[in-house]
Amino acid sequence: MNPPGYVLFGESLILQRVREIAAQISADYAGKRPIFVGVLRGVVPFLADLVRAASDLEIELDFMAVSSYGSGSGVVRIVKDLDHSIEGRHVLLVEDVVDTGLTVRFILRNLESRRPASLNVCTLLDKQAHRLVNLPIRYTGFSIPDTFLVGYGLDDNQRYRNLRDLWAVQPEDVG
Ligand code: PRP
Repeated sequence: MNPPGYVLFGESLILQRVREIAAQISADYAGKRPIFVGVLRGVVPFLADLVRAASDLEIELDFMAVSSYGSGSGVVRIVKDLDHSIEGRHVLLVEDVVDTGLTVRFILRNLESRRPASLNVCTLLDKQAHRLVNLPIRYTGFSIPDTFLVGYGLDDNQRYRNLRDLWAVQPEDVG
């Protein structure tokens, strides 16, 4: 069922942008056998499209899951850690959305301590309205306004993650 709202980014626009980012990444990581680290769960559709759009690269995949102790606290707990070592490897951290930036900052600090050869960030969506920390984001799909989005991995209380488009909606727990 469609959410109450409107399509902000449709499927074809999303996939076109994903292909553009993938082309940039393919050029930058040529010959490097990078590890893409996805932060569960919202990233799954984006990551799946991104890695297939960069199929000329030899990409390894790994995943983390984190949980925040209250929004804006910056205190993050690792719920699922990587399965493999990243020491000496080229790592691309892939997110669906960067909001305050606290989650990515925590993960970056954590991954840096494991001594990767390089560490960069790719996010589908960059929502800067509530950014609390400066972050080096290498690849961005779309910069978005302070709007609640669902679809293409993003949820409202776990709903709508499997929609093909990105919708701007009024969240159910607000209105
Ligand atoms: C989202 C997103 C980031 C985080 C960004 O995850 O995937 O991990 O929020 O917020 P921040 O920049 O304010 O820290 P969410 O907690 O919604 O989990 P999900 O991916 O399972 O939907």
